[in-house]
Amino acid sequence: MDIRAIERAYRRYARFYDVCFGAVFQPGRRAVVERMDCGPGERILEVGVGTGLSLPLYPQYVSVVGIDISRHMLDQAHVRQARCGLDNLAALMVMDAENMAFEDDSFDKVVAMYVASVVPNPERLVDEMRRVCKPGGQIFMVNHFHSRNPLLGGVERLLAPLSKQLGFRPDFSLDRFLGATGLDAWNICPVNLFDFSTMVEARNNKQSAAGIPVPAFAPS
Ligand SMILES: C[S@@+](CC[C@H](N)C(=O)[O-])C[C@H]1O[C@@H](n2cnc3c(N)ncnc32)[C@H](O)[C@@H]1O
Repeated sequence: MDIRAIERAYRRYARFYDVCFGAVFQPGRRAVVERMDCGPGERILEVGVGTGLSLPLYPQYVSVVGIDISRHMLDQAHVRQARCGLDNLAALMVMDAENMAFEDDSFDKVVAMYVASVVPNPERLVDEMRRVCKPGGQIFMVNHFHSRNPLLGGVERLLAPLSKQLGFRPDFSLDRFLGATGLDAWNICPVNLFDFSTMVEARNNKQSAAGIPVPAFAPS
């Protein structure tokens, strides 16, 4: 996977993305936003926001920033913003999630929906999500990971050489992802039809800028 191949793939997908991947993966988006349990005034960053299918799900009282590497996907998100009157959407920006322009500790919650298996370097993605999230804040992911079902898993392995053309890695392993990123995941649960995807909820386990240990975290 490389960034140019990803841009090309999502330029092709942009027009019909919602038809192909909208309704079928919406339960996962909904589950994540519910689980985020956003509070009034919170600043939320969604990386790889795409066409903005999740945006109408956020409560009015938060401030949401969405970034994506694909201008063509964001064009569709702008159309949705106008159509749905999303007043809580602070900005939609073309930006690489592996190299964000935001300052450290800028957001209360950072979320990536169906993005981890797409980016060239998932470890770098998580490092950046941690950096821009406040210490003790929360990081959420939803993604399809390599299936443990022998048949489906076998098909995914066969498709793996086509990752560049598909625009995602079909054989992306959850265990390897968690191991490589050191994500402090305390809630991992299946979502979507046939439990096709997995939601990962993690505490931002970085040190605060002042080196003060992050406050204890009590999951609800
Ligand atoms: C499978 S789509 C998911 C879109 C949306 N989150 C959703 O729920 O449908 C993956 C998105 O990640 C974006 N993306 C891939 N690599 C990226 C990167 N390095 N930085 C920002 N966005 C990226 C793609 O352009 C695409 O819009």
